[in-house]
Amino acid sequence: TPRFAQFKLVLLGESAVGKSSIVHRFVKDQFDEFRESTIGAAFLTQTVLLPNNITIKFEIWDTAGQERYKSLAPMYYRNANCAIIVYDITQESSLEKAKQWVKELQRQANQDIIIALAGNKLDLAESDPSTRKIKKEDAFTYSREENLLFFEVSAKTGEGVKNIFQSIAKKLPID
Ligand code: GTP
Ligand code: MG
Repeated sequence: TPRFAQFKLVLLGESAVGKSSIVHRFVKDQFDEFRESTIGAAFLTQTVLLPNNITIKFEIWDTAGQERYKSLAPMYYRNANCAIIVYDITQESSLEKAKQWVKELQRQANQDIIIALAGNKLDLAESDPSTRKIKKEDAFTYSREENLLFFEVSAKTGEGVKNIFQSIAKKLPID
């Protein structure tokens, strides 16, 4: 029998890591080289179809990473069922920022929130390995310790992007 469920998902992470680009790749299958920094937050929806005829609708809050918007974040993660914390594998500081978000969610968000860590801009490291500043192994080890789903992706090529949402959808509670 077909089933349908909807869940609230929030994206968090330092400015310019590619949160909006990941969402646009997932929702519209498009990428802009010159995307404008998000103001406040953006709301989008997209569905994924799981095996067994289960349709999952994601209500997505794409938050603004700039420091001046930090105080708005709790409004968006408060009732979230799932979160994608994004960092940029070519920016050292962005993983530290991601870890701060993980801590904040573990303290302040729903107890059963599903958190995924996504290292974006994989295309850059694939075309020039010297641009990589964060080893996959280090981020993976951290994710395992904190019980997070973990992915390296590229919003530019689309590599791995659908898989983040599919993997989260599979872990969501559906009755
Ligand atoms: P804020 O809205 O300020 O929080 O930033 P954001 O995290 O939403 O980043 P955004 O999606 O606006 O992307 C920032 C810049 O990185 C843009 O110029 C994008 O084109 C670029 N970018 C995003 N994803 C990728 C990627 O996978 N590869 C490459 N090469 N560039 C990317
Ligand atoms: Mg944005």
